[in-house]
Amino acid sequence: MASKIVYNENLQKLNTFKVEASAEAFLAINSIDELEILFSEISKYNEKLVIGGGSNLLFAGDYSGLVIYPQLFGIEKTNETQDNIYLRVAASENWHDFVTACLKNNYFGIENLALIPGTVGAAPVQNIGAYGVEIERFIESVECFDLQENEHIIFNHSECEFAYRESRLKNAGQGRYLVCYVNFILNKIATPVLSYAPLKKLSEDLARNQKEATPKNVYDWVCKLRKEKLPDPFVLANAGSFFKNPTVSSDKFVKLKNQFPNIVGYPDKSDEKIKVAAGWLIDNAGLKGKRVGNVAIHEQQALVLVNFGEMQGSKILDLACDVMQKIKSLYGIVLEPEVRVLGIDLAERSKLIK
Ligand code: EPU
Repeated sequence: MASKIVYNENLQKLNTFKVEASAEAFLAINSIDELEILFSEISKYNEKLVIGGGSNLLFAGDYSGLVIYPQLFGIEKTNETQDNIYLRVAASENWHDFVTACLKNNYFGIENLALIPGTVGAAPVQNIGAYGVEIERFIESVECFDLQENEHIIFNHSECEFAYRESRLKNAGQGRYLVCYVNFILNKIATPVLSYAPLKKLSEDLARNQKEATPKNVYDWVCKLRKEKLPDPFVLANAGSFFKNPTVSSDKFVKLKNQFPNIVGYPDKSDEKIKVAAGWLIDNAGLKGKRVGNVAIHEQQALVLVNFGEMQGSKILDLACDVMQKIKSLYGIVLEPEVRVLGIDLAERSKLIK
């Protein structure tokens, strides 16, 4: 049956914070052709939001606009060379299942990104990263549907403008480009990345037993680490890291280090700035585990806000703003949400960025 726009759709099942919010209009699509057919109706909405796994969103109120929920599946091998495998993967495939399938097929590179919640289509949008690997390294291009111009468009790697948890699709492209397929280039030769501090223990253990690390070792270790530290959104509602790790000048970092000798920071790859661990800042401020009503800062990882059953996303936003204010007054650093906050007006939203 052809898809159609429905109204006042409840979004609670479509966001991993599990807050109640409704979409003014909602469209689930099973093929890209449907977007072309429904283009004039879609165009009536200035505000559009594409939802994948809903694992990086906070609805602080109802959404006034059109939510598009693609249901596009399939993984296709498009090319193979001596060293690489080329895969074209539809946007709604589950990310972790894809990582697992790649490992089983001996397609390597993305094992450090195991257990990240969400869909394949969302991966390039915020350039997902964990344990020393960012997905951009494996993306050849992203095939999108331009909801403004009613046309297909392919962004090659450089056109995607990837940065730390950022891309062209996340910024100017939000609500405009619907990701349909992601084209990956994966390795046939294993090159495990063990540079990230928590993985060093794995490499030490293996070295002691005179063993070489394999992608399967890394995958298992990452799954274990994530299960220990990060709450499973299916068990305790959350959206992963709520804030980005901020960058500060090296001068500022030296001053902070004098005041807080244990502060965690490391050089940012792009310039002379230092990236500071926001989890450390929040933890050191004594906020880890803080609970207000049914929302809290997670006890194992201070970057994650968790929801024990609160229905109003605005309560989660209140706690986030509280954290931001405390971090600003204690360290003079303004935290920026990594999670996309929706359903509040712009004036209110700005209190997040002040
Ligand atoms: N730390 C604390 N207390 C905390 C949390 C962290 O002191 O409560 C310290 C740790 O001891 C460590 C440092 O902060 O020295 C960094 O912590 P961690 O390795 O856990 O990484 P992170 O910077 O807090 C980032 C990503 C995570 C990703 C991990 C692992 C961001 C915003 N978050 O967290 O991504 O899993 O690295 O690579 O970059 C996500 O984006 O949703 C996410 C979970």
